[in-house]
Amino acid sequence: MLNRSRRLRTSSAIRNLVAETDLRPRHIIQPYFVQPHPGTSEIASLPGIGRTGVEDTVRQVEQDLKLGLASVLLFGVPDAEAKSPDGASCCDHDGVIPQAVKALKKAFGSDLIVMTDVCLCGYTSHGHCGLVDDEGVVQNDKTLPFLAEMALRHAEAGADVAAPSDMMDGRVTAIRALLDQNGFTQTSILSYAIKHAGAYYGPFREAADSSPKFGDRKTYQMDPRNAREGLRDALLDIKEGADMLMVKPALPNLDLIWRLREAQLAPICAYHVSSEFSSVKAADRLGWVNGDQLMLEHLIAIRRAGADMIVTYAGREAVEKGWIS
Ligand code: PBG
Ligand code: ZN
Repeated sequence: MLNRSRRLRTSSAIRNLVAETDLRPRHIIQPYFVQPHPGTSEIASLPGIGRTGVEDTVRQVEQDLKLGLASVLLFGVPDAEAKSPDGASCCDHDGVIPQAVKALKKAFGSDLIVMTDVCLCGYTSHGHCGLVDDEGVVQNDKTLPFLAEMALRHAEAGADVAAPSDMMDGRVTAIRALLDQNGFTQTSILSYAIKHAGAYYGPFREAADSSPKFGDRKTYQMDPRNAREGLRDALLDIKEGADMLMVKPALPNLDLIWRLREAQLAPICAYHVSSEFSSVKAADRLGWVNGDQLMLEHLIAIRRAGADMIVTYAGREAVEKGWIS
């Protein structure tokens, strides 16, 4: 007897019946770049994504919520004048992120999950994710109080989830401790457990104006050649109190998403990062690929590998164009 696997592929109804992977709006986290001045400015390398002032952010989130996109990840894009060597303005009470979080929580309350990026690179004049000494060496332990206070500011404003992306050692412990001391025991931490150094974040750095002015991020972000290192760090993050784990970039790390899923550590979030998105958009513009289909296939692969949720610039588009519902 011929084993006919094709029987279960003969119509879209039967394919839907046996489909193993589900991608829904609830799995999507939509990223936002929030600027201090009003209005919206385009980001050339991230088509469809803008930098928005607080009011425009609230307006856009309102539309996203109607589409069923109920989670956002906010990145602050402060003016150049607000940057300094120690990035201290990341802890300002009236910084752009605390303002945006307050406005979003006032408008949408618990209907919206507000996640905030916690990292110094948008706020330091040198663009590194931590403090640096005179020789340009990153100062891990001196950075921790800044990260913790930044997270506290976001929590005070009403953020649901702090997402440290800096890759300093010990930051989950530092953030958890300061949040708890101040009564924010219910604010979650989504820790970047696996974040590889490399070329995948180019368009993001343009959008957030956060490129390092010298050197690179290889002394704190991970070596893409390593897998066990990431699994070890994920365990450490859980021990330190992380509630959820981030893996990025997503497609180059499907193996690690899968291994974390197998280890059943915590909810896993994959970040489909700026270059993963932009390269599809660019090739689509050249007419070389079907960008819509390719983008959806990216997101499905990430879910199939075991990600519970995906940060993606394609979220809004995916729902608007009916790729997912
Ligand atoms: C900041 C941060 C970066 C990204 C998320 N948080 C950039 C970086 O590490 O240089 C990248 C996201 C993307 O490329 O979409 N630490
Ligand atoms: Zn950073």
